[in-house]
Amino acid sequence: MELATSASLGILLVIRGEKPEICLRISGTTSGHSEKDGEQYMGLYTEKILPHLINHFMAQSDFSRLRGEVLEAVSGRVLEIGFGTGLNLPHYSATVAELIAVDPCSRCLQLADDRIRSAPFPVRIISADETGARIDLPDDSMDAVVSTWSLCTIPDAVQALRECRRILKADGRLHFVEHGRSPESGVARWQDRLTPMQKIIGGGCHLNRPIAGLIESAGFHIESLRTFYNSPVKVGSYMYAGTARP
Ligand SMILES: C[S@@+](CC[C@H](N)C(=O)[O-])C[C@H]1O[C@@H](n2cnc3c(N)ncnc32)[C@H](O)[C@@H]1O
Repeated sequence: MELATSASLGILLVIRGEKPEICLRISGTTSGHSEKDGEQYMGLYTEKILPHLINHFMAQSDFSRLRGEVLEAVSGRVLEIGFGTGLNLPHYSATVAELIAVDPCSRCLQLADDRIRSAPFPVRIISADETGARIDLPDDSMDAVVSTWSLCTIPDAVQALRECRRILKADGRLHFVEHGRSPESGVARWQDRLTPMQKIIGGGCHLNRPIAGLIESAGFHIESLRTFYNSPVKVGSYMYAGTARP
């Protein structure tokens, strides 16, 4: 039995015998498909299609406005985790001296190319640990760390935040805007239900991470925090924007 669960992205829930599988139909039908085909489809989706979706979806005007608000005060040597396709670059002020970018998605970094070349400060890409567990920079070396909608996706987000804290100077700041768990129990329940599907469609993105709690678990002290729904569709739009001290 096949159930199309997301027509726009061609995601199919395929139930054969006892084991439901979720795969992406790129073309043709799934009849006769094997688990290996499913994995290949997902690999193709994650590596070739998802970076373009991120580039397009994350460029929406509401997000641009939030980027401007969060990045306005960022200066000096900056580390950006989950750099994506470089959509933050036009929003940094002239007080940024250098930006170091970390992201394991090589296609995203290619899509960032023009933005990197147009940046008025040097942008250096360093290699990323897939889990986020290790960031190859010395202790106390950065004035600011920036994360915009990446803590939902980085597999070991708390360990990545610990690394950010290690790397930040004592008077440095973490600047963030993220989506995450809603304080409304009904919404949070739907976030829990939909997260397994969202992880597939969104390359590991969780709808239900308690962002402020993750930041504090890593040892940061939250200095300012604004939480709000960014859209009437509450399940994916509960935002956490603010700064934290190491
Ligand atoms: C929703 S996108 C956000 C991209 C960008 N921050 C923005 O604001 O447009 C999440 C990003 O987190 C990245 N990511 C996933 N795992 C990561 C890791 N271990 N370390 C750093 N970034 C990671 C993904 O590749 C993706 O680019």
